Amino acid sequence: MSGSRAPQRDRPWWESAVIYQIYPRSFADSDGDGIGDLEGVRHRLDHLVQLGVDAVWLSPIFPSPMVDFGYDIADYCGIEPMFGTLADFDRLIAELHARGLKLLLDFVPNHTSDRHAWFQESRASRDSAKRDWYIWRDPAPDGGPPNNWTSDMGGSAWELDPATGQYYLHAFLREQPDLNWRNPQVREAMHDVLRFWLDRGVDGFRIDVLWHCIKAADLRDNPPNPAFRPELGDKFKVLQHHSANQPEIHEVAAGFRRLTDTYGERLLVGEICLPVETLMQYYGTADAPGVHLPFNFQLLDAPWEAAALARIIGDYDAALPADGWPNWVIGSHDAPRIAGRLGEPQARVAAMLLLTLRGTPTLYQGDELGIGRVDIPPERIRDTQDVRQPGLGLGRDGSRTPMPWDDSVHAGFSTAEPWLPLNADWHTRNVARHHAEPGSMLNLHRDLLALRRAYAALSIGDLTVLAPHGEVLAYERRHDGERLLVALNLTRAPQRLALPDGVTAEVLLSTLPHRHFGGELAPDEGIVLRLEEV
Ligand code: GLC
Ligand code: MG
Repeated sequence: MSGSRAPQRDRPWWESAVIYQIYPRSFADSDGDGIGDLEGVRHRLDHLVQLGVDAVWLSPIFPSPMVDFGYDIADYCGIEPMFGTLADFDRLIAELHARGLKLLLDFVPNHTSDRHAWFQESRASRDSAKRDWYIWRDPAPDGGPPNNWTSDMGGSAWELDPATGQYYLHAFLREQPDLNWRNPQVREAMHDVLRFWLDRGVDGFRIDVLWHCIKAADLRDNPPNPAFRPELGDKFKVLQHHSANQPEIHEVAAGFRRLTDTYGERLLVGEICLPVETLMQYYGTADAPGVHLPFNFQLLDAPWEAAALARIIGDYDAALPADGWPNWVIGSHDAPRIAGRLGEPQARVAAMLLLTLRGTPTLYQGDELGIGRVDIPPERIRDTQDVRQPGLGLGRDGSRTPMPWDDSVHAGFSTAEPWLPLNADWHTRNVARHHAEPGSMLNLHRDLLALRRAYAALSIGDLTVLAPHGEVLAYERRHDGERLLVALNLTRAPQRLALPDGVTAEVLLSTLPHRHFGGELAPDEGIVLRLEEV
């Protein structure tokens, strides 16, 4: 493919797209309740256009008791009143589409809220017509839970329902009972949910904890985890060999894919936290197609070292199935902020990495401002994961703080006190300020996204990782005669960068103010060079 001018295969829109994740509670509040909403998002679409992203993934917006902030859904086919109405949703999608932006919704198939009508009916009696829609079992002989599975949010994965004397399974909170994906009625009902939103025009879905949906039919005990330490949280007491990633999951995913394919070019992104080789299975096969993009989370906790990153990038690329398209993630509503981990100078380098690797990047709201770690005072902690397993540092509130838009009261996010505190530096780290400041983190993101549009090599081109030299991570991107070199200095010391033989280089972009390239990278500098053969 590289260098040839032969017609390319038709590429689906999402291969060259950049996805932007919106956490709706924290994006923009239009009605002064301190919580973001759909109208808030709609009023801020210019930000997305100026940034230059192509698609928005909205974390859940459906009716929810909000015990897990929307990942506990009480009705899959409505809008949470706190976020707005279906009419607001229709307006939002129309305005996104009018600007050429796509919309992905968050589809949560593993579990519902315990307030969902299906679960209410299921728990009503052992003979309920929906009893088998969830996973119910008798107590163990000693009256305890049916097996040793632990919840990702702490404690046993089983909750006793005293009225009917059985336990139900919940991989996450007890307020999030797991659906029984072995029941064909559940599959049908959830396919109806996908149709409901596809008929309203959505361009795809991010699928929540896809690898959890099917459990071993016999629900046998998980093996104990030899590496368990209590500070890891109960989730890690056992290895989730039988409670997740079962072979039958691929048939479930194929069901989603076959359905969405009937709507044309729609995108399925799967949340799957598994090692690379296993992750690859989620692309599916010709007979049982999987999701288009199984989320690749490796950068979230990769060591920030050239050799390690080079290995991760190379191994991932090599492991991809023939038609598998890569993707990269560097932040989310579940992960610590990248700028908190690396500091702003290296977060700029990380942004260049995310937006110049081969594949579809997902950018998390606020990372374009370089929001760092936000410490949440104990009385303002909201994440149930933190509340139920306190002191282990498992809380996710620090990555979910409101978007700072300007330096007016509450950073222009809301007219009321926001549900979570703002980043402490919001007076200077906000969209309006960054907009006006050449070289700001926001403008760096805009420049990177503009460069990605201008040079197809950056989005769809081939990628070759160069042998790491010191702490410089370097790779070439090539497409249709374009040849770009990305070089990232991962240290605070200057580093030499030798160019390949027989080329001259022109600087297209640096993470530092305007630069000429003289064979060296400045401290904390990332650079994109256009190579020309001499
Ligand atoms: C996913 C979501 C996370 C949620 C969990 C349970 O990992 O990203 O926020 O708590 O699923 O639904
Ligand atoms: Mg609101």
